[in-house]
Amino acid sequence: MDSLIENAVIKIKNSRHTTALTGAGISVESGIPPFRGAGSLWEKYDPMKYAEISYFLKHPEEVWKVFLSDMKDTLVKAKPNKGHLGLAELEKRGFLANIITQNIDGLHQKAGNTDVIEFHGSFARFYCLECQNRKKVEEIDLTKLPPRCSCGGIFRPDCVFFGEMIPPESLSRANTEASQCDVILVVGTSAVVQPAASIPVTAKTGGACVIEINPSPTPLTNTVADITLTGNAGDVMTKILEKL
Ligand code: OAD
Repeated sequence: MDSLIENAVIKIKNSRHTTALTGAGISVESGIPPFRGAGSLWEKYDPMKYAEISYFLKHPEEVWKVFLSDMKDTLVKAKPNKGHLGLAELEKRGFLANIITQNIDGLHQKAGNTDVIEFHGSFARFYCLECQNRKKVEEIDLTKLPPRCSCGGIFRPDCVFFGEMIPPESLSRANTEASQCDVILVVGTSAVVQPAASIPVTAKTGGACVIEINPSPTPLTNTVADITLTGNAGDVMTKILEKL
């Protein structure tokens, strides 16, 4: 493991432009369950109901009561962990240009990263389905569900449901970053949900070194990934920073 960390550190030091792709795994140590695997969100909730846009539009009260209010409770309490703080430190020290995240928890920004591409949107922001009035998560009143705007419309989170497009600007920036970077750190993603899963492939095709950080193997391991650092994001980021 030590020699793999050293190899990764050399690649990061020699890189002109490093980006990161993060997934739910980086927020596990902040108390947010991942989407897949034991104890995960999709084990508890059926994603084709609770994370699917046409179901939400037909059954907003149920989706708010069963899933979204639970998500809000979990996300507002969460604080950045050593994985997020490590990526923020990398940016501060000039080793990381930006982060492409599939996460909607806002923890990279809370940790201090200044350029975060929110590939699946954000749960920090909400908007009214009728008049598009926008509110921050802390301004949403959940005493009566679904939460409603003063116009009577229902609020939805500004994140991507299944059946929706990736925000075009995020998709385009992520592709540009992936094709131009020298190193991509792929942290805590199962790399099975498209189009995010193709970002490391785009980076690799453009000649980048793909460094994966994950406690479990993924479809990238021993294929697209040049270096796989097996472990939790917090522990691995701490070791990388010690050697940089
Ligand atoms: P997943 O839940 O699919 O995968 C989480 C990954 O994190 C797995 O590969 C775990 O092995 C790894 N992991 C677990 N604990 C970790 C830790 N402490 N440190 C580092 N890694 C750890 O989450 P995503 O890949 O982010 O989309 O899922 C992608 C998308 O699927 C989500 O953005 C969401 C979901 O459906 C939408 O809702 C549109």
